[in-house]
Amino acid sequence: MRYFKILLLTLSIINFSCDFQKTNKISESEISSRANEILNMMTLEEKVGQMTQIDQRFLDTITDLSTYHIGSLLSGGGSHPDVNEPQAWLDMYNKYQSEALKSRLGIPLVYGIDAVHGHNNVYGAVIFPHNIGLGATNNPELVHKVSEITSIEVAATGIDWTFAPCLSSPEDYRWGRTYEGFSSDPSLVANLGAAAVSGYQSVANMNGKKVIACAKHFVGDGNTEYGTGMNGLVDRGNTVLTIDELKEKLLPKYQEAIDADVQTIMASYNSWNGVKCHGSRELLTDILKDEMGFTGFVISDWQGIDEIPGDYKSDIEISINAGIDMVMVSGQGQPYKKFIKLLKENVEEGLIPMSRIDDAVSRILKVKIRNGLMDNPLVSNENLTLIGSAEHRSVGRQAVRESVVVLKDDNILPLSKDLQTLVVAGKGADNLGMQCGGWSIEWQGGQGDITVGTTILDGIKKTVSESTEIIYSEDGSDVVPNPDNIAVVVIGEDPYTEWFGDKENLDLNNDDISLIKSLKDKGFKVAVLLISGRPLNVADHIDQWDAFAAIWLPGTEGDGVSDILFGDFISKGKLSFPWPINTEDGSNAQKDNLLFDIGYGL
Ligand code: GLC
Repeated sequence: MRYFKILLLTLSIINFSCDFQKTNKISESEISSRANEILNMMTLEEKVGQMTQIDQRFLDTITDLSTYHIGSLLSGGGSHPDVNEPQAWLDMYNKYQSEALKSRLGIPLVYGIDAVHGHNNVYGAVIFPHNIGLGATNNPELVHKVSEITSIEVAATGIDWTFAPCLSSPEDYRWGRTYEGFSSDPSLVANLGAAAVSGYQSVANMNGKKVIACAKHFVGDGNTEYGTGMNGLVDRGNTVLTIDELKEKLLPKYQEAIDADVQTIMASYNSWNGVKCHGSRELLTDILKDEMGFTGFVISDWQGIDEIPGDYKSDIEISINAGIDMVMVSGQGQPYKKFIKLLKENVEEGLIPMSRIDDAVSRILKVKIRNGLMDNPLVSNENLTLIGSAEHRSVGRQAVRESVVVLKDDNILPLSKDLQTLVVAGKGADNLGMQCGGWSIEWQGGQGDITVGTTILDGIKKTVSESTEIIYSEDGSDVVPNPDNIAVVVIGEDPYTEWFGDKENLDLNNDDISLIKSLKDKGFKVAVLLISGRPLNVADHIDQWDAFAAIWLPGTEGDGVSDILFGDFISKGKLSFPWPINTEDGSNAQKDNLLFDIGYGL
């Protein structure tokens, strides 16, 4: 055994020093035989450890990684090192990985993170438009490029795995996760989702270690019945579909991800016809693995198995037997040592057959071998300067440009760069946190200067001529009429993530409405830019607006908005969600209740 570990360690050290890209073109049969070789050496404790994922914040002590043979760590939203900057992320990764390699067999851990619109937890990384904006670009090549850059920045910090792309096709916009979906149209999601998978998984670091993607959340996360979710709202609710409807509507986008070789799939919190996805053998094994041919591994969502009816020990029995291969225990709710103990007990008592454990561990090992992790776990810092690079930011700016959807223009766009005076107002005009939205540095995002980037106001200032006087006023109270009397007003939603964004009503904020009215009363022509994670109720107000554009959650490169505003680029963005008069009616609103249909954009 010691020989094997020394060999594995030696290999990883040799590879650590080499500085050329090794393409690990090992065949599937070689991957399988290597996995079986390791599996046959593993004790039950080591197998159980491989199936355990912990958030690094909740490790009792770092030596638990080797003591309990832990297979994976994650950084959930906001789970960053003491100092949030790239070198500290890389040091944290290598610290944990070095400890994991001390276990008897020295199997490296696979580290996962929600890099869902850039490496968005890391200060200084480029934050791209959220998927609702990328959906409006309808540009698979761009989505591939954005995902590739995201993985380059993820890999630079050592991290192996992003919990992306989200393949939701949200129907009820009252769901706080609407913006994580590319579109309400599953076929558009399938197209962009496959591009994202191949983009994320196309990146290998200098030693050939690749980043793996995760298609989520399987299945029906964005299709729940209103009122069946948390707090009587939407998130984690019940999705009611016949098997035929499910196969026709929601499975093809996952089939395309599987065909694009996605290495992991995350089970969804919601229920399907009253059965929790995390406990559904029909979904996770019969359909996903047997019928659809998924050969990677299934990861649970954060404490997702805990929501299965019954006690924790039966949650474990039901979810593992259903087809969960690795459990995101997290360690925040149930202690991970308790999970490990109960999983072992389930096997020892014959409640979970060893064949199921071996299948799960084999799947996990194959992913680690296939993506070069086994041979090159540790990462040097040569790529850290790529994080937030000018080249990456210019792609971010392009993505912002192409995501802007102009929905109304009474001949005031594009604005002149040579105005004598331009008023810029609204709480979203100079607010990087607001334009990034959720999943940005912190789990729930934040306000103001949360990271490095360009606000919409910054972009406007860089675009207009020297002679133009920009008058910025967040609440517009001190704005007085001027000869040009043009105002750009940036309004919209404060950041939110997951169920924090579930809302019964999708009206605009009263402050936003009264700000625009006050400017109109002063005789201004108003170009309204809406920062939001979903269509909102604008029908009662839009007639008073001279121009209106949905800019979604554009991320750090706010100058992409001024590229459109001042006509340096022609807007190409088209709605990837229909926009009803009453947006609470969601994507299934009747045609005669639509303000703008899917695909619309000036
Ligand atoms: C969250 C989300 C999931 C995310 C995971 C890890 O609860 O549902 O999308 O990947 O936990 O942060």
